[in-house]
Amino acid sequence: MRHDRSQQSVVLITGASSGIGAALAREYAHRKSHLVLLARRIDRLQSLAQELERLGSQVLVIQCDVNRDGDLDQAVQKAVKKFGQIDVVIANAGFGVAGFLDQLTFEDYRRQMETNVFGVLRTIYATLGELKKSHGQLVLLGSIAGYISLPGSSPYGMSKFAIHALAQSITPELKKDGVSVTLIAPGFVESEFRQVDNLGHFVAQAQDPIPRWVQMPTDRAAKKMIRAIDRKKPIEIITAHGKVIVLIQRYFPGVVPWLASRGLKVRSQPKKTEL
Ligand SMILES: NC(=O)c1ccc[n+]([C@@H]2O[C@H](COP(=O)([O-])OP(=O)(O)OC[C@H]3O[C@@H](n4cnc5c(N)ncnc54)[C@H](OP(=O)(O)O)[C@@H]3O)[C@@H](O)[C@H]2O)c1
Repeated sequence: MRHDRSQQSVVLITGASSGIGAALAREYAHRKSHLVLLARRIDRLQSLAQELERLGSQVLVIQCDVNRDGDLDQAVQKAVKKFGQIDVVIANAGFGVAGFLDQLTFEDYRRQMETNVFGVLRTIYATLGELKKSHGQLVLLGSIAGYISLPGSSPYGMSKFAIHALAQSITPELKKDGVSVTLIAPGFVESEFRQVDNLGHFVAQAQDPIPRWVQMPTDRAAKKMIRAIDRKKPIEIITAHGKVIVLIQRYFPGVVPWLASRGLKVRSQPKKTEL
């Protein structure tokens, strides 16, 4: 049964088991939205669901690998069976492959594109029919790396440039169907992102090389993201440092590559510094 707009919206989030996805789920739970939470680590999703249900939200958790054909279609079927419709889809699942070109393999690039680009496309194709019916909202997680790609992170930069291109093309395309698109481009936000290895596995003992004071707390970032989604903004850059980098890149495009090449002289090994 489909419910009307005055009732809670149904929000589907990929990559909800940690970081930005989990923080978005918490924010939506505070406003009693119904939630469909997807990720590979089902144990994490289950404990998050228990927390969110205490806030009064109805939560459906489904194990889902965005790399696997069929997983998203099945998740959407289950979501519609339980909630009747889907109003907001947040294609958030992603990770970063770090390394210089000559240290990486073709497979490393393929793995990165599979999750960050084709995983997003799978999410869109699986949910678009429902979003058209609900005149809903599609949210894509881009990055400052979708504006400027730095040495040591070409796979990740390629993947986020692709997402920015996708958003730019489909925002006007989907408008005619009543589906709005919001591209979120964060700078450094607290999460497990920089503790995930090149194979896409979380490594608990890995150190995040970006100092905590540079990173925006996840709950603050999630609030800003949801404000932009509510206003149906086509694009939102999250973090002040992210906005500054984008401005410098736009008006002084030589500056960041020059700084990056000076950085390269002092370190021969790339670190997980993607944003
Ligand atoms: N944090 C930042 O500084 C930052 C900056 C710019 C952009 N971003 C973007 O924000 C998004 C979220 O990242 P985060 O910072 O929150 O990192 P995170 O804490 O590592 O979370 C990543 C999420 O993606 C999920 N995921 C990864 N591969 C998946 C797959 N194959 N199938 C399903 N889910 C998968 C993970 O869940 P499972 O491992 O349980 O599957 C996890 O829930 C990413 O797209 C990232 O590129 C982050």
